[in-house]
Amino acid sequence: MNEYFHYQQDRLYAENAALDDIAQRFGTPCYVYSHAALTDGYRQFAEAFKSREHLICYAVKANSNIAILNLFARLGAGFDIVSGGELQRVLAAGGAANKVVFSGVGKSEAEMRQALEAEILCFNVESPSELDRLNAVAGSMGKVAAISLRVNPDVDAKTHPYISTGLKQNKFGVAYTEAFELYRKAAAMPHLRVTGMDCHIGSQLTEVSPFIAAAEKVLALTDRLAAAGIVLEHLDLGGGLGIRYDDETPPSIAEYAQALLGVLQGRSEKIIVEPGRVLVGNAGVLLTRIEYLKHGEEKNFAIVDAAMNDLMRPALYDAYHAILPLQKRGLEKQFYEVVGPICETGDFIGHGREMAVDKGDALAVMSAGAYGMSMSSNYNTRPRAAEVMVDGAVAHLIRERETVRQLYAAEKIVA
Ligand code: LLP
Repeated sequence: MNEYFHYQQDRLYAENAALDDIAQRFGTPCYVYSHAALTDGYRQFAEAFKSREHLICYAVKANSNIAILNLFARLGAGFDIVSGGELQRVLAAGGAANKVVFSGVGKSEAEMRQALEAEILCFNVESPSELDRLNAVAGSMGKVAAISLRVNPDVDAKTHPYISTGLKQNKFGVAYTEAFELYRKAAAMPHLRVTGMDCHIGSQLTEVSPFIAAAEKVLALTDRLAAAGIVLEHLDLGGGLGIRYDDETPPSIAEYAQALLGVLQGRSEKIIVEPGRVLVGNAGVLLTRIEYLKHGEEKNFAIVDAAMNDLMRPALYDAYHAILPLQKRGLEKQFYEVVGPICETGDFIGHGREMAVDKGDALAVMSAGAYGMSMSSNYNTRPRAAEVMVDGAVAHLIRERETVRQLYAAEKIVA
């Protein structure tokens, strides 16, 4: 819980809107975001970096609803994208192409063309063959592509192995030891313009030290390049700042920024950061309703109407999300396995949660704003959830619940 999601007389609110009213009005499962939480998170970042030229490129993959992209765009954000689809969303949401950086290990020719056409700020190139492809595509269009190399600093992010990206064994970026030569090669390519360096070491980091270690490596390489006549305009230090789901104690945005700015003291490059989770994670919850309480021999189950297709993080990473009742009740507390209706043992939202609840009660799965809706699927032909943005006491529907007909609309029966 935080100031944006709080109890008032035993009812859980998002800002000034009671979540049980929202569950009634829009149905469940339903994602609810706080406009104030999103705005405050972005403003904290902007404030923390204001002492120097910077660009906050929100990592679209964390939550790509166009209402959220539009809100960040209006606050001045740029965007970190990893697909042509995300670029299209950013533009549809009113984002500025010249504030977009394009990350990802597998950019297709079509995606490169689309991004060059839109005139994005920079491609974060992740391999020698991607350099060749980008040079060729830009050449065929008579354009010059601005590039950074994403260097892999071989720093341990000390996070879940599935979301750690800065180690030698990971598929991301170019090896630190090879980056210098590759920069020389890139600088000699006619349709590329070397403008920066990029690194991103992982997600849900709860300490500043790996960020510092990575930044120091980036700076050392930047200096070697400058000595060889390749002068960079910007340094992109990636995203990855963690949030509190349970009892983690990640650095605040201000502490994270302070630490980075310390390392960057006396440097003139523009700073880019790519935060995702920290801007949206604790700004959103997933509402779900208990369909059944089932008392098994060993365990009690609360079977809810949200499932792993709606929120994949528990099944995929064994991730913890707090689960709170929308109405506190004076019932006896019991321990429950909170599970969805999908036919997989891994379909759970939470294990062994102590709750005073009854059938029909609605719950909020907390900290679900990042990598919740954006990783959802239609497994078991389950339409994806509705999304709502609360602003003060007003709830705006920002994505309608999918219909089953939409799910098979593009399919064809073979005669
Ligand atoms: N930049 C790049 C190049 C990235 O790959 C990512 C995330 C970010 C920025 C944003 O990182 P953030 O600030 O959100 O940590 N699905 C996982 C997280 C995967 C993160 C992938 N890359 C989860 O639910 O925990």
